[in-house]
Amino acid sequence: MPKRYSSKPRAPRTKKGQAFVDEERFGRLKEGEGKNPFYVNLVSRFRIQDGYLKRFLLVLFFPIQLVLFFSAAYSYGSLFAVLYASFGILEGLSGQRRRAGHVITNKKFKSKRRSRAQTRESLTLVCISDTHMRHKYFDDTFPNGDVLVHTGDASNFGSFNELKEFALWFAQQPHKYKIFVPGNHDMLFDEKFYDVYYKEWTIGKKESSLKIKQLMEKLGIIVLIDESIVIENIKFYGSPWTIIEHPWQTAFQLPADKMVTKWKQIEEDTDVLLTHSPPYGILDKCLFGGSNTGCRDLMRVVKEKIKPAVHVYGHEHGEPGIQQHIYQSGQCTYFGNAASVSEYYITRRNPLVFSITLS
Ligand SMILES: [Fe+2]
Repeated sequence: MPKRYSSKPRAPRTKKGQAFVDEERFGRLKEGEGKNPFYVNLVSRFRIQDGYLKRFLLVLFFPIQLVLFFSAAYSYGSLFAVLYASFGILEGLSGQRRRAGHVITNKKFKSKRRSRAQTRESLTLVCISDTHMRHKYFDDTFPNGDVLVHTGDASNFGSFNELKEFALWFAQQPHKYKIFVPGNHDMLFDEKFYDVYYKEWTIGKKESSLKIKQLMEKLGIIVLIDESIVIENIKFYGSPWTIIEHPWQTAFQLPADKMVTKWKQIEEDTDVLLTHSPPYGILDKCLFGGSNTGCRDLMRVVKEKIKPAVHVYGHEHGEPGIQQHIYQSGQCTYFGNAASVSEYYITRRNPLVFSITLS
């Protein structure tokens, strides 16, 4: 297993070994005192998945949704793109470059650590995200590569059983390295959030954040939470944070004006950036009206400071695909929204595949 580099401060602990409740994030709430409104609690207690909820709302408010579809189509510039984003249909007409085995190569990339000895010529990344317990729908066309990446929301409710099921499937894949960055649904990974909100999202006993992390590690999965790892001379940095969406309180979320504190931790020599959050304005459109939902500070930090070869993310299911950004120097970053389920969680999409030339 390659060496991991952590940039996060260690959580303070009480004498009994319990993590402090983070007052800056949750105010004066104590352990087990979450404050989701009653309808969010209803959804969590009855285990109503986002996919079912969205489909139910689609049927119930169909005329309104139709108007939103057309306003999204105006914003996307294509009705086919909206149909693909919603239901995973008409991929060929949607302008997506996402068919199985399609590899995007960043030939213009120059690694910031070129002085080290190169052992190989390229590294292939296979990227998925937001599988929401539908990982088993990936079929035989699942491409091979060196590193399999998942940028969050493997689960629906972030329970131990869900994450264990995902981890067992993920670990079975033939890729030599597997990296997982949790998302806002993978609640058990956010220990401080879980301490406050576990009664609202967990059925039965409180579960152990440490246990799921240990299980993943035992299975050979590299979990990156505000930390980096160097694989074959390529530095990967993973961050799970997204902007809070009221009234839902889920894991690893902060108000928009606090997000920059997380992005400041990204190491400047990062080659492959993995975040759950999309950057603002780049494959981050929400299907409902076509508005941009990504983080402005993340966009600024990535384009002005980090300039990685590849930036992969998910969270927003409504605008999957790959977009290239070319800098004045001639180098470029490929941005990839790897969300694997459609807006209505109906079908899975093919993974994004990137090849990074090392020499
Ligand atoms: Fe998601």
